[in-house]
Amino acid sequence: MKVVVLGTAAGGGVPQWNCACGPCGAVRAGRLPVRTQDAVAVSANGVDWWLVNASPDIGAQLAATPELAPGPGPRDTPVRGVLFTDAELDHTLGLAVLRGAPGLRVHAPATVLHALAPTRAVLATYGECSWRQVEPEQAVVLAGGLEVTAFPVSGKRPRYAVDSPVAGHWVVAYRFHDPATGGVLLYAPCLASWPSGFDALVAEADVVLLDGTFYAPSEMGAATGRPSGQAAMGHLPIAHSLPELRGHPATRRIYTHLNNTNPVLDPASPEHAKIAEAGVEVVADGTVIDL
Ligand code: MLT
Ligand code: MN
Ligand code: ZN
Repeated sequence: MKVVVLGTAAGGGVPQWNCACGPCGAVRAGRLPVRTQDAVAVSANGVDWWLVNASPDIGAQLAATPELAPGPGPRDTPVRGVLFTDAELDHTLGLAVLRGAPGLRVHAPATVLHALAPTRAVLATYGECSWRQVEPEQAVVLAGGLEVTAFPVSGKRPRYAVDSPVAGHWVVAYRFHDPATGGVLLYAPCLASWPSGFDALVAEADVVLLDGTFYAPSEMGAATGRPSGQAAMGHLPIAHSLPELRGHPATRRIYTHLNNTNPVLDPASPEHAKIAEAGVEVVADGTVIDL
């Protein structure tokens, strides 16, 4: 299986257009690299590719990724479809950018499909796009041979969907398994708590990409000087997930969905030293992983 880490930032990216926090300033000054919003591309055969999440940065991410370049025909694309972990805007707004790709398949939990109804109605007028409801813990084989299984990890709804009548799991993690190599990727960019059973998933994965939005429980309020509602955002801070990850040294562990306030963005920070000492990484956009 080949994994391209397309983007590693939380909503807004780094720098975020309206943010003058320390890390955003450091990126503008050229001292830290730009990070686009969280998404990955996965493939078992290097021919059929699946996007997991589609941020507003998807156009730039596709353009920066040779594996996802169009061809061989003038309007062919190796992108077979998109899987969504949740319905947050930073994970779903990019779907409209992908309009006009006939046959694009979208996999998402029932809650997310419902929340995306307005986008679905718009896309329906641009060409055929098929929608498949993701059922928890039921493996599905994707074009190209990858086997994917969704694990519900939280009930955190996007702000725009607080009144949605659809009950169920709003956020899932995906486990990708390549039957040819045995490689397993666990992708969990939004994790509200450490769910029961999650240790077993991390233990059997070769690589885990995990929610690293915030380092500290009160980081956003401290950076912006305003009440932030961080606790309600559904992101377990690194300070709380790192002790859990320490128990899995055999798994390659990478934090993603990094918010622009997160001190681990700076490799010289004490917080970065803490994760490095635990053997946990942050990686650059465009990182390719073979497993
Ligand atoms: C989140 O990850 O919590 C959301 O993307 C926040 C947001 O952008 O509203
Ligand atoms: Mn987000
Ligand atoms: Zn910022």
